[in-house]
Amino acid sequence: MSLFNIEMRFVRKPKDEPYWIVEFPSEVEVKLLASRSVSLRNCIELWAHAPNVQKLHEELKLYPKSLMQPYVQADKSFKIEVDTFCKHFSQKEKVDKLEAFSYLPVDGPVDLKTPDVTFQYIEYYGIIPHCPPEQPYEVFFGRWVASGLRQLIKKLSLKTRKFIGNTSMDPQLSLLMANQAKVTDGSLVVDPFVGSGSLLVAATQFGGYVWGTDIDYLMLHGRTRPSRIHQKTRDRDESVRANMKQYNMEHRYMDVLVNDFATPFWREDFRFDAVITDPPYGIREATERVGTKKEGYEVKAEHLPTHIPAKIEYGISNIYKDLLRFSARHLRVGGRLVCWFPVFREDYTENVLPHHPCLELVSNSEQTLSKVTSRRLLTFEKTREPTEDELDEYPVDIMDFREKYFVIREESRKERRMKEAKIREDDRLRNLNKQS
Ligand SMILES: C[S@@+](CC[C@H](N)C(=O)[O-])C[C@H]1O[C@@H](n2cnc3c(N)ncnc32)[C@H](O)[C@@H]1O
Repeated sequence: MSLFNIEMRFVRKPKDEPYWIVEFPSEVEVKLLASRSVSLRNCIELWAHAPNVQKLHEELKLYPKSLMQPYVQADKSFKIEVDTFCKHFSQKEKVDKLEAFSYLPVDGPVDLKTPDVTFQYIEYYGIIPHCPPEQPYEVFFGRWVASGLRQLIKKLSLKTRKFIGNTSMDPQLSLLMANQAKVTDGSLVVDPFVGSGSLLVAATQFGGYVWGTDIDYLMLHGRTRPSRIHQKTRDRDESVRANMKQYNMEHRYMDVLVNDFATPFWREDFRFDAVITDPPYGIREATERVGTKKEGYEVKAEHLPTHIPAKIEYGISNIYKDLLRFSARHLRVGGRLVCWFPVFREDYTENVLPHHPCLELVSNSEQTLSKVTSRRLLTFEKTREPTEDELDEYPVDIMDFREKYFVIREESRKERRMKEAKIREDDRLRNLNKQS
């Protein structure tokens, strides 16, 4: 909504139900919002809404004819869709529900394929599957206005994507991230931990021109081990560019480069509209940077052409410090950084999040990963250019997720081993008792 500068008012405060009743200035705004909404299914102009079917019909009969008129004329074909949320009905039962609307003053012909007007009738049976109530909690009737982008999630499915890696981000989350970053036509976007480029694929869908960098040479050249179970070797042409080509977005692809994020690479005065990224947490992939522990190490000139640099531990804390510093420098004012940040749920407070004086945290939501861990989707907006001091090291205490993760995993494995040993010992004693 802030991207299109539109306003929406909640008619009723949303709770758990999958419907929102809202008010927009006009249909134009509804269509704009739907044009970017990944989680939204349909927007309907609400003609009647009631706690039961009988009341709905009573209310619909009172809907002003003048408002219905443009959509029920003889030259307008129509159809009525029946949607029953959380309860299955046979086609015959659905047709019976339809027949109940025969009093509607619709004069046009029925067209089930390409109607001019679609009406929707919705019965809502709650969100708990398998035990719906006898009667619906709420019923709605209205005119379909717009659908969201759910078909895009399918189009970008990882199952049919040319090039994927072990940590490719799923399309729905990638699209949500591009929205959070307010990517729009002509935005310059970078993912400094690009991997297979899933976040860039999503950004191009909204008009972004995209760059990516990654330390993994083999990844960017599509030469890592295949991630699909049944694929033995990678195709020769697997790459981030091939993904762009697959979705006809090659014209939005700037390039990807092999680069260690710890080594500044971009021209200092270069500005992006958005940084969208999922840095490594050190669990499924290493957190490494180029470096060596050897003192005064120098590569001889004759070895330089074939030299493969050694790597040392980067550390989550340093990765996020660098990421925020990078964004503070390279975003335009008003530009956004959208990234994931792993946390232990028991330790989580806003204080554990990375921060920077020039970046305002505008959104923060949780995706649960396990009983003890989750990751936060963070969106920062750059509020001003940093001073030279603010681009230097600044003190942020970021917990090392990786270290604690492995300690906890080791502890729970130890606990499990002890439990199993105790069960075995109890069994042995029981058997001994039986024998004696
Ligand atoms: C979680 S993955 C990103 C996956 C990506 N979003 C995708 O959809 O494929 C993190 C990536 O960071 C890269 N990486 C790790 N350390 C790095 C470093 N020091 N500099 C740049 N990239 C690094 C890894 O090679 C990996 O591809």
